[in-house]
Amino acid sequence: MLLKSIVWRGLVGAILFVSAVPLAAHEGQHVLDTSEDNMKLIAKSLGVQCTHCHVEKTEAGKPDFEAPSKEKATAIFMQVHFVDSLRTAKGESLTCEGCHQGASRFLPRDLENAKPSTLSEHMPRPDIFKMMKQFELDLGVTCDFCHIRNEEGRLTPEQPTKHKLMAKYMIDHYAAGLQTLDGKPVTCNTCHHGKAEFLPR
Ligand code: HEC
Ligand code: HEC
Ligand code: HEC
Ligand code: HEC
Repeated sequence: MLLKSIVWRGLVGAILFVSAVPLAAHEGQHVLDTSEDNMKLIAKSLGVQCTHCHVEKTEAGKPDFEAPSKEKATAIFMQVHFVDSLRTAKGESLTCEGCHQGASRFLPRDLENAKPSTLSEHMPRPDIFKMMKQFELDLGVTCDFCHIRNEEGRLTPEQPTKHKLMAKYMIDHYAAGLQTLDGKPVTCNTCHHGKAEFLPR
């Protein structure tokens, strides 16, 4: 338990350190407002119970609020890298609720009603390829991460896939809907830094 706790504290510390954000996670200091009201607000914003993040139990069987967890590390990451570092395109502050809207997992993944995309109809070919090449770089993936191929092995980029749905959501809501604190545009790389998955969860 203790060892695990030290390892997690180290990991969270390392994440905060490499991102050159002012260190706020010293022993005894918190990044999040840990008042009961704010913890309730966070739980409500994500539509989860306290135990979604506070997974460890004390010997008495109660949640061990101080013990680290991947979900806690993710919550701290979101506070530092999203809420404290980004603004909406209109310059408003971000909140957990603003992105999560009552769900811990809210990104679109369901292909059931997904239709083929029609980007080629309103964007010139060379611009599409430039944008797609940038996605590859920013997420550290290749075309096949988001697109599937037909029987002849040719890419069918208009066909829906799970990762394409998620990417489209980020294009519309994050790249188009956010800016950095100093007013610069948000790109895929602002959050992804060359990796498709980067959350501690
Ligand atoms: C989304 C994840 C999440 C949820 C849900 C959540 N918490 Fe937390 N909680 C955290 C994180 C992260 C910290 C540590 C914050 C820090 O150190 O900056 C924390 C800290 C705390 C602390 C202080 C612990 C200490 O180290 O002193 C208490 C008490 C607490 N939470 C209670 C609750 C209660 C009660 C609920 C349900 C109403 C709840 N939390 C829901 C993530 C969560
Ligand atoms: C800019 C938008 C944005 C903001 C602001 C934001 N989040 Fe998130 N968060 C996300 C995305 C995107 C995911 C991944 C969701 C998915 O997989 O469907 C996520 C996932 C999480 C997860 C992991 C959930 C799970 O069950 O896997 C936690 C915990 C979390 N966020 C906590 C927070 C907390 C706490 C705040 C406020 C301090 C916050 N987030 C603010 C975008 C945001
Ligand atoms: C991170 C995911 C992602 C990666 C990687 C990616 N694409 Fe795409 N691609 C998309 C999304 C999302 C769309 C639809 C965008 C829209 O509808 O606005 C799209 C659309 C396209 C289209 C236009 C299809 C249409 O809607 O008419 C082409 C062509 C295309 N991609 C080619 C490529 C090629 C070639 C590569 C590799 C060099 C690539 N893509 C890599 C996500 C991706
Ligand atoms: C505000 C931060 C933010 C921005 C900007 C952003 N993303 Fe994301 N993206 C996330 C988070 C958070 C996740 C969940 C990562 C995880 O699960 O570790 C995610 C996940 C994804 C995934 C799914 C990866 C997987 O393996 O499940 C794709 C695809 C994706 N993003 C594409 C994009 C594209 C394309 C752009 C640029 C148009 C972009 N994102 C911009 C925050 C962002």
